[in-house]
Amino acid sequence: MSGLGLIFLGPPGVGKGTQAALLAERRGIPHISTGEMFRRAIRERTPMGERARPYVESGGYVPDEVVNGIVAERLAEPDCAGGFILDGFSRTTGQAEALDRILAAQDRRLSAAVVLEVPDAVVLRRLSGRRQCSGCGAVYHVEFDPPAREGLCDRCGSPLIQRDDDNEETVRRRLQVYHEQTAPLREHYEGRGLLLRIDGDAPVAEVARRIDEALAAVEPS
Ligand code: AP5
Repeated sequence: MSGLGLIFLGPPGVGKGTQAALLAERRGIPHISTGEMFRRAIRERTPMGERARPYVESGGYVPDEVVNGIVAERLAEPDCAGGFILDGFSRTTGQAEALDRILAAQDRRLSAAVVLEVPDAVVLRRLSGRRQCSGCGAVYHVEFDPPAREGLCDRCGSPLIQRDDDNEETVRRRLQVYHEQTAPLREHYEGRGLLLRIDGDAPVAEVARRIDEALAAVEPS
């Protein structure tokens, strides 16, 4: 394996995107969010976006063959040669097996699967207060991480919006699908000695410190 190869697991709103972005910056490796890839493709109305749209909008999972294809292509890009962080992939057993095949074909393997854990009530509070920049995609929280000027992005000044799939009904569906299809992957990775369980119920900086501490044990020297 060249560099750190990680996946981030955990329910919607647990803080995967927040922590994956910070860690990617600290380590200088790409942060690959399949959710962001789908949202961009949906905005740009690409064929892949149109295929993904009904699943993302309803809170279901995009079919494995679509997701596996875009991840395989992304991991083959040169900036992934020194490591990567996959945020929100894999989510099903089929995706976990596909990831093993993709990495094996590149003579690489996963360093760890980081699972963030917080109580359901905390997840719901994080999701209901999340706001995202309509321009650059930066993520805020009305209570825990508010922008300097209400409703506007600190980085680019664009208006902040609420994600379409952060409404109550879709959140309920996303949580249900997570528990049915993704939570079992914890055992899959635990059985292979790759699971790093992180208590995510703490401020962002403290969760980042806990992740660094856990990774110290698995990072290639
Ligand atoms: P995706 O975008 O991956 O959504 P998700 O898994 O539901 O996760 P979220 O992005 O909602 O939450 P997060 O854990 O990243 O939390 P965040 O850091 O933003 O996927 C969207 C959809 O795409 C899926 O439903 C599916 O349809 C499709 N899809 C994607 N990948 C797929 C795959 N592999 N297979 C099939 N379909 C796929 O934090 C949330 C909020 O909390 C923010 O406001 C943040 O500021 C705040 N916050 C974060 N950390 C803290 C903290 N420590 N303390 C206080 N507040 C915090």
